[in-house]
Amino acid sequence: MNLSEVFQQHFQKAASVTVSSAGRVNLIGEHTDYNEGLVLPTPIVQRCTMLLETRADSLVQVFSLQKNQLLEYTLGSEVAGRDWLDYIQGVTQVLNQDGFVFTGFDLVFSSDVPLGSGLSSSAALLVTTVKAIRQAFHLEISDLEAAQIAQRAENGLVGARVGLLDQMACSLGRNGEALFIDFKTLETKTVVLPKNLELVILHSGLTHSLSAGEHGSRNYKTRRAECEQACALLRIHSLRDLLPHDFERVAALPAPFAQRAKHVISENARVLKAITALETGDLETLGALFYASHASMRDDYDVSEPEIDLIVDLARETKGIYGARLTGGGFGGSVVMIADVGMGRAAGEAIAAEYSKRTGNTPRLLSPSE
Ligand code: GLA
Repeated sequence: MNLSEVFQQHFQKAASVTVSSAGRVNLIGEHTDYNEGLVLPTPIVQRCTMLLETRADSLVQVFSLQKNQLLEYTLGSEVAGRDWLDYIQGVTQVLNQDGFVFTGFDLVFSSDVPLGSGLSSSAALLVTTVKAIRQAFHLEISDLEAAQIAQRAENGLVGARVGLLDQMACSLGRNGEALFIDFKTLETKTVVLPKNLELVILHSGLTHSLSAGEHGSRNYKTRRAECEQACALLRIHSLRDLLPHDFERVAALPAPFAQRAKHVISENARVLKAITALETGDLETLGALFYASHASMRDDYDVSEPEIDLIVDLARETKGIYGARLTGGGFGGSVVMIADVGMGRAAGEAIAAEYSKRTGNTPRLLSPSE
């Protein structure tokens, strides 16, 4: 059954609005967004698709195809703790706070962005929700504002204090292009991906959550707090204010603040170099930057896992792969790799098979797509 049929079956009417947004893979520039730094994401094939029809009353009925579940609430009564419905509730709550005028609606959505994969399943769902409501009620919201509304919903009712990288990537990203974002100014620049490059994305099968305080102090929230603490100790506004020549000053900080700050400074510098490498089609340099970024996330930022490191190590031994790194928030999720065009599938499958043999985990090759 396709989505329109599902909609018809649940709501006995057709939907006039169809909207979809892709997940994203961050090529490089990790844990820099909330430090006013630099990032370089690009859309993935997997996406969230939504069908919506307005209602005359203030009821919101939502059917999730993956969960095979219909949940509902009334506008104005949004409350956290209702599982995946929190994403929809979070958006209507923010739109309401901003004074946008809209009624209830019926909605069906489906997403093939794997949950907890570091590929922005949350942002794809949130951004798609904002855009579906925008279209249905003719709201004046730009794509950048849609991303900001989605972030506020995630920070607010959903309860994950994430940066703006994922939402901007999902809202503004275009196929075949990387989106450079400078989070000091929110300026963006398009970087066309070279024709000789193929992205390989392998989900480790280890899922993560950005809202929970899992793994003791090894979580997203703690890393953010550590960066804020590093700034306080250095008496600076954000880690973006530092450049590679400040390494000595940073090294004088106590652990783990020195390491966290070092990662952010070095990662920002790598993003700029990666743009030049992409613009010149220099896969060797880009690959080296990927490996360096991974080492920094593993050793200085401490957001990797042994299984993820294994995938990156296997990539090093695999023909046709130039570089590999953990992508997204970390503590599980996916590895993004650079391959020669046409080499990605075989290389990705070989790495997945060896990884699965050694760990017993079930990896999933998400790009080149199935
Ligand atoms: C998650 C967050 C983003 C960003 C990345 C790490 O995806 O949602 O805001 O901080 O982690 O780069």
